[in-house]
Amino acid sequence: MTKDSVSAVSWRQEEGVLCLLDQRALPAEERCVLCRTVEEAAQAIENMTVRGAPAIGITAAYAVVLAAPEGRDAVRAALDRLARTRPTAVNLFAALERMKRRFEAGPGLEGEALANALLREARAIHEEDIAGNRRMGAFGAELLPDHAVVLTHCNAGAIATGGHGTALGVLRSAREMGKQVKVYADETRPLFQGARLTAWELSRDGFDVTVIAEGMAGALMRQSRIDAVIVGADRIARNGDTANKIGTYGLSVLARAHSVPFYVAAPWSTFDLSAADGAAIPIEERAEEEMRLLPNGARLPEPIRVWNPAFDVTPAANIAAIITERGVFRPPYDFR
Ligand code: MRU
Repeated sequence: MTKDSVSAVSWRQEEGVLCLLDQRALPAEERCVLCRTVEEAAQAIENMTVRGAPAIGITAAYAVVLAAPEGRDAVRAALDRLARTRPTAVNLFAALERMKRRFEAGPGLEGEALANALLREARAIHEEDIAGNRRMGAFGAELLPDHAVVLTHCNAGAIATGGHGTALGVLRSAREMGKQVKVYADETRPLFQGARLTAWELSRDGFDVTVIAEGMAGALMRQSRIDAVIVGADRIARNGDTANKIGTYGLSVLARAHSVPFYVAAPWSTFDLSAADGAAIPIEERAEEEMRLLPNGARLPEPIRVWNPAFDVTPAANIAAIITERGVFRPPYDFR
């Protein structure tokens, strides 16, 4: 029996503060960053103390609660500030929209009453995410054989969500069903979410996990049995085109070339049905500095240019199925 070993986001009711597992420090150190203000929470999303599409949505929801004691204008300002943190993961905007609706549903609420109403909504977003991941995990686990060998990219685990995980939730659920699972984790440059977070999260739960550099995935698929690639998502368009961590698209091309099924696991809050296709998805470009620091401690000198998009779009044609809490969708996609 596996458990949701670690939580990325928790609300400390006694102190009225938000505790974020500092994902920048992993795997060297497990420490909590306390956010007492909206600005602290917004910066924690921007600097990736907390990351992963559902986890940043949940963080933003709790962050709105932090504004309530300052009054209704502060809540409005919080909704605006948090919406300007990271552009690609639509879960952030879905969570803020729910918080805004809750705020507007109680026009006379102030102070503690307002904070309590907002906290109930943030908790609901958090709990629904965990419950959804468990349902999604059960659907996805059916797709895997016993003794499955799975390749994953970035971190779509418990710490990228409210708990259990999306892609890693499928693996956890498969194990709970009694299936054995071996995992390859792409290291995921430039911030190493695969090596630092996925490998750590899975190995502390007793999974057999091996880290590879992205450049090794093709050779791995050619030489070894890989039963499936499973990744998470940051935004899924109406036609199934899916934005996820940079490198996902290349992996989908390799999977297709090697006849390996490529699955996306994501909750309904990751769907943007207003986006007709992947071209409508905004792709975050992050600071050059993330790319300039080299593993030997040297720095790429300035005349050398750097391109650092945080996400890419995998065309629906490369995706065998999209696993959600509502079931498994296969092409041609109709997400109504
Ligand atoms: O830049 P990050 O680390 O926030 O990117 C995260 C990813 O791309 C994840 O794979 C995605 O959010 C799915 S998380 C369940």
